Amino acid sequence: MILGCMRLGGTDEAAQARAFAAFDAALETGITMFDHADIYGEGQPERHFGEWLRQRPGIRERITIQTKCGIRPGLYDFSPEHIEKAVTGCLERMGIDMIDLLLLHRPDPLMEPHQVGSCLNTLHESGLVGAFGVSNMNAAQIRLLQHFLSTPLRVNQLELSLAKLDWLNEGIHVNQAAGRNVHFADGVIEYCQLHDIQLQAWAPLAYGWFSGQPPEHPSPAWQATAQRVEEMAAAKSTSREAIVLGWLMRHPAAIQPVIGTTHPDRIRACGPAAEVAAAMTREDWYSLFIAARGEALP
Ligand SMILES: NC(=O)c1ccc[n+]([C@@H]2O[C@H](COP(=O)([O-])OP(=O)(O)OC[C@H]3O[C@@H](n4cnc5c(N)ncnc54)[C@H](OP(=O)(O)O)[C@@H]3O)[C@@H](O)[C@H]2O)c1
Repeated sequence: MILGCMRLGGTDEAAQARAFAAFDAALETGITMFDHADIYGEGQPERHFGEWLRQRPGIRERITIQTKCGIRPGLYDFSPEHIEKAVTGCLERMGIDMIDLLLLHRPDPLMEPHQVGSCLNTLHESGLVGAFGVSNMNAAQIRLLQHFLSTPLRVNQLELSLAKLDWLNEGIHVNQAAGRNVHFADGVIEYCQLHDIQLQAWAPLAYGWFSGQPPEHPSPAWQATAQRVEEMAAAKSTSREAIVLGWLMRHPAAIQPVIGTTHPDRIRACGPAAEVAAAMTREDWYSLFIAARGEALP
């Protein structure tokens, strides 16, 4: 699992204490990877993270730092000038010498692939970035970018959860009229599996909708899913968070959830998710999938 740091911004002392508590809770839970982006909270989560690292000597060597760039307020920007500036900013805010993993945040239609490739290759050769990945990209976009890169793309981060099921519905609706209403990049899960590109799930807790924070207007399917999550958590003596994440991690693609909760107790509640996934039966997995779909399988 990865701790997503998007919501750990804010400039005052209380905000910093809140961020530190989340980082500490993650480490206690065995989470050693942290997900940032230059755009999150105008750089504040990265600044808090840098200060946290300064106050916890020896931790940098034990953790993996991932950040993203390519989004500017109101537009996307994969120009080499922007990427280089973004990398410098991330390194400075976190007070580190190298970003372990740099992801391109959202596809930029104006991307010049040979320029991006040459920029990323230079960042890698200069030791400023250890490896690269993407986020919210389809297989063709990944293939195009990879063609101009001298190192393999390692990660694709997508929204995957019990509330966002198109990644599974795409596969089960082949040859079905219902497939017309499925909105997901065709074949990207399989492409990443085939090319050893680690899939990461953003918003894997589905904003808490099935684990204690129902949406304002829940559908009957989502109410039934929350109910099912609660029953399974009680039956397995675990947390609802572990069920929601365990369901995602049960998928053979070995998806890494990027959890966005800022609450130390909820971070700890996510801890048993891998164990839950390993023990989740096919029947349990399908019962959650079908409840969240709100209709039987085709
Ligand atoms: N690549 C991308 O385009 C992209 C886009 C969005 C996010 N991300 C990454 O993914 C991470 C996770 O995304 P996310 O934070 O949007 O989604 P998430 O992990 O599904 O949900 C976290 C949110 O749900 C709330 N929540 C969860 N369980 C709750 C409960 N039982 N009761 C009340 N509130 C509950 C959390 O509040 P509390 O903090 O109070 O627990 C928090 O606001 C981000 O931090 C970021 O790193 C990436």
